[in-house]
Amino acid sequence: MQSAERKGRERMSHQLVIVLDFGGQYNQLIARRVRECGVYCEVKPYTTPLADLRAMEPIGIIFTGGPNSVYLENSPQVNPEIFTWGVPILGICYGCQLMAHHLGGRVTAAQDDSAREYGKTVTYFETGCRLFKGLPETGITWMSHGDYMEKVPEGFALMAHSDACPNVAIADESRGFYGVQYHPEVNHTERGVDMIRNFLYEVCHAAGDWTMEDYKRTAVAALREKIGDGKVLLALSGGVDSSVAAALLAEAVGEQLTCVFVDHGLMRKNEGDEVEAAFSKWAMNFVRVDAEGRFLAKLAGVDEPERKRKIIGEEFIRVFEEEAKKVGTVDFLAQGTIYPDVIESGAGDAAVIKSHHNVGGLPDYVDFKEIVEPLRLLFKDEVRQLGRELGLPEYMVVRQPFPGPGLAIRVIGNITKDKLDILREADAIFREEMAKAGEEKNLSQFFAALTNMRSVGVMGDGRTYDYAIALRAVTTDDFMTADWARIPYELLDRVSVRIVNEVKGVNRVLYDITSKPPATVELE
Ligand code: XMP
Repeated sequence: MQSAERKGRERMSHQLVIVLDFGGQYNQLIARRVRECGVYCEVKPYTTPLADLRAMEPIGIIFTGGPNSVYLENSPQVNPEIFTWGVPILGICYGCQLMAHHLGGRVTAAQDDSAREYGKTVTYFETGCRLFKGLPETGITWMSHGDYMEKVPEGFALMAHSDACPNVAIADESRGFYGVQYHPEVNHTERGVDMIRNFLYEVCHAAGDWTMEDYKRTAVAALREKIGDGKVLLALSGGVDSSVAAALLAEAVGEQLTCVFVDHGLMRKNEGDEVEAAFSKWAMNFVRVDAEGRFLAKLAGVDEPERKRKIIGEEFIRVFEEEAKKVGTVDFLAQGTIYPDVIESGAGDAAVIKSHHNVGGLPDYVDFKEIVEPLRLLFKDEVRQLGRELGLPEYMVVRQPFPGPGLAIRVIGNITKDKLDILREADAIFREEMAKAGEEKNLSQFFAALTNMRSVGVMGDGRTYDYAIALRAVTTDDFMTADWARIPYELLDRVSVRIVNEVKGVNRVLYDITSKPPATVELE
């Protein structure tokens, strides 16, 4: 795997920075920041042999933070020869202490709280240092270290200090070694990205050659070489990852690709047609399976959320299997795995086998030789950018997460086509008004759900007994926790008026004001 990756990279024209991972919590963020600066980087575990690192020919290395103290037994270490190789190194937090420790400095646990720093700290910089070139002399940094650099290694100079700590940043500019005790990659550090940019451009002399246009070209060439005249099968959900993977493969191998899009009848309004239209420009085999009847029959009378999910997952596999059989033997099964999944798997190199859009497992019933994961080195923002580069419509590349079981988990209780149609209309109005009001970009996810509750209302002169629609809008970084969004009352009012007037069967609109926890984002 590793040698194949290296071979792949040799074909790519861009430079590489290695983020050497010591287990800190912000490792992905560091890598994203580097790429945002126009420089390609990869996260590699600290255990990667030095010879392998050298073979990748990086222009610079960033040591990440980590949870340990450099003095602890079994704390992550590096091969000290890394310091004689001649490659510039930026050490962050633990990475800084590790560098100091190896190069003859002394790191100790802070004796008292005054030298232990957490949180936002006023910091004073030597702006003559290349790392801080062009930046203000004073700024806020985000500290999170218990250990303290008591003695700075030979050849290093102090480049930043705080009121509590004399050596917040150190540098040996002649060797290109820099160490910072704070986290430049987090937003709390003012101009932190500029410090990373300075390391890349002022110290490593990066060319800034990481662009999506270039990536698209090299990825298409690499996929053509890998796939040859083989056949590829992809389960397309219409979500961002599988859509961009499909577009990239379509660009690379055209008719050798078959995309199976299972329309389970649980999509949002017009979604199926939109997905089909978005892919019409490529000469590939686009199979849209109209499976609404099958799914609704299986779901009839089922009101328990987990059972709904299970039924949908199983039925999806069955439908996909039938379609795959029609395609015959395929050489490659494509998956929309992206880089955060690869990094989280720990190995960085191991093939990650993910279930597609969370509705089923890996189809071991499909006969294929190899998995192809054309997005496995891209972050989500980059996947979106690549989608744009490939000409996918904007609504498709900025799409919010949409659960595999679709609207089935947004209709509370048992599902019928009528209920799904009511929800589709209400949800379309909500999304339309949110887009018009410019709220879309501020929110992580928003949608309508059909509650199981019917209540009394009055319309014209008549009494109604209809459903209540619940609106949900949340902000979140990671979907593990979420806050309900404070959207303007006037906007809620417009949505409510339109829904009760335009959607037959609804006479009440509720707004969900619970955060996660204790609620979840979805209602089921
Ligand atoms: P919850 O409701 O668990 O949602 O707070 C967190 C995120 O996960 C999505 N979600 C799902 N995605 N299959 C999926 O593919 C599911 O069964 C599922 N349930 C929730 C949800 O939309 C939100 O983004």
